[in-house]
Amino acid sequence: VSRATEYVSAGPEETRALGERLGAALERGDVVLLEGELGGGATTFVQGVARGLGFVGSVSSKSFVLLGEYRGRVTLYHADLYRLENPDQVTDLALEEVCAGGALVVEWPEHGRDALPPEDLLIRFDAMGETHRRLRITAGSERGTALAAAVAAGHAPQPQR
Ligand SMILES: Nc1ncnc2c1ncn2[C@@H]1O[C@H](COP(=O)(O)OP(=O)(O)O)[C@@H](O)[C@H]1O
Ligand SMILES: [Mg+2]
Repeated sequence: VSRATEYVSAGPEETRALGERLGAALERGDVVLLEGELGGGATTFVQGVARGLGFVGSVSSKSFVLLGEYRGRVTLYHADLYRLENPDQVTDLALEEVCAGGALVVEWPEHGRDALPPEDLLIRFDAMGETHRRLRITAGSERGTALAAAVAAGHAPQPQR
């Protein structure tokens, strides 16, 4: 529906800061999918999301954790489907029910596409050398448009290529 908003992050802390803006705006029921190559910065972004939600502590980057739970102003559910071996495992996670109790952020959504709730936001991460990452944010719903605007607030988006 909407066009992608593009950001270029110059380092991990800048990526966390973008995540923090999103985290500050997230509510129960919101669904955010993060896709891109390994090392693209998705987990780093989730660390910022947790911080923006008021969670104090560390976000696991261990890919064998299928579903992390971080309690802040709103509970953040962080699903990482990288190590998923069998699509049934996504079904078992019952993510549709999970997101009713908090905000859901999913890494490697392509490993469980059919068992995921529809997304409000899709964020694509691409590496640009060692220190830079491009983030492309696309809204998938009206709610997603509002969330994308919250991320954009105070941050000048890079021009569209
Ligand atoms: N601008 C940046 N944003 C995020 N991570 C970056 C950036 N520049 C370098 N990095 C490094 O890239 C890696 C990203 O890892 P991670 O967040 O686990 O990615 P993913 O979850 O997408 O596999 C980290 O080692 C981080 O330090
Ligand atoms: Mg990751």
